[in-house]
Amino acid sequence: MKIGILTSGGDCPGLNAVIRGAVRKGDKTYEDEFIGFLDGWRGVIEDEIMPIPRRKVQGLSRLGGTILGSSRSNPFHDDGDGAALVKRTLEAHDIDAIIAIGGDGTLYTANRLFQAGVPVVGVPKTVDNDLDATDYTFGFNTAVEIATESLDRLRITGESHHRCMVAEVMGRSVGWIALHSGMAAGAHVICIPEFPLSIDEICEYVQATWDRKRAPLVVVAEGFTPKDAPEGLIDYDVDEFGRPRFGGIAQTLAPIIEQRTGIETRATVLGHIQRGGEPTGFDRVLATRFGMAVVDLLHRGGLGRMVALRGTDIVDVPLTEAIDNPKRVPLERWEEAADLFG
Ligand code: F6P
Repeated sequence: MKIGILTSGGDCPGLNAVIRGAVRKGDKTYEDEFIGFLDGWRGVIEDEIMPIPRRKVQGLSRLGGTILGSSRSNPFHDDGDGAALVKRTLEAHDIDAIIAIGGDGTLYTANRLFQAGVPVVGVPKTVDNDLDATDYTFGFNTAVEIATESLDRLRITGESHHRCMVAEVMGRSVGWIALHSGMAAGAHVICIPEFPLSIDEICEYVQATWDRKRAPLVVVAEGFTPKDAPEGLIDYDVDEFGRPRFGGIAQTLAPIIEQRTGIETRATVLGHIQRGGEPTGFDRVLATRFGMAVVDLLHRGGLGRMVALRGTDIVDVPLTEAIDNPKRVPLERWEEAADLFG
């Protein structure tokens, strides 16, 4: 088979390991040939490609980022016939199918193309771990490790200066990174979008921690809004897709906490540091297994489907399972964490 492969959406540690896993498996088992599209769907639409021979993936699983580049463009952006553009590029290079590696937006586009007759399969990706179709996405474990290390560092400087430290981690609509890194670092309050605390509750936990002679450590997911947020407290920019551009809730909360508790408070936004750098061993293994499994899926004729992790097994499910179905932190996991607050 001649297989096209693309990485689309926000980058994520492990993308290169998927590419390596797919190319090694396809080359060895099926004598497949691989063509990479540059910068996600943009490379397909504008016909910008790069052959990926086996030697090109040597040593790739430990590298962060993606050798193919990524973007948030998609074939349906402009009102033109997106599927026709994609089919034209596939025909021009005799490509039999596309492996699309991406999050919900990418997999939504992949499914739309599949409905329009484009041969495509998917690999789920997101540091946020917000896809219900799979138990874990690669990149999440790396992001949690980076966030945990950063929280440990913030705790140390907070203790030295007797300050409250507020750290903002990624999580557009779900609080998985905040929950896991916060628990790992022993944070005193964790604020996630699914179960928003009020400003009063946050300040109570901060005060209780302070009263025990500890420097309070507050972790907040970027998509969090306090349940009692006054009108206009949070005023985000939106990106070209109308989604909030985050990077503000920690700076918004810190002065409020300081004013209400009288404890000197500092804010830190970890931002894209959580997405860059080398994947952890866990993410390399998961991503490699996804890459190998998606090639098998193609050879089984599984178009319109994607690979997923269920327990410890790699399975395949329809692309539609990745769409409009965010995996939120369940109540029992939240209560478990909240038992340790303060
Ligand atoms: O979806 C993954 C994610 O890292 C979110 O946590 C974050 O809100 C967003 O991407 C940032 O996107 P961009 O890289 O476009 O700023």
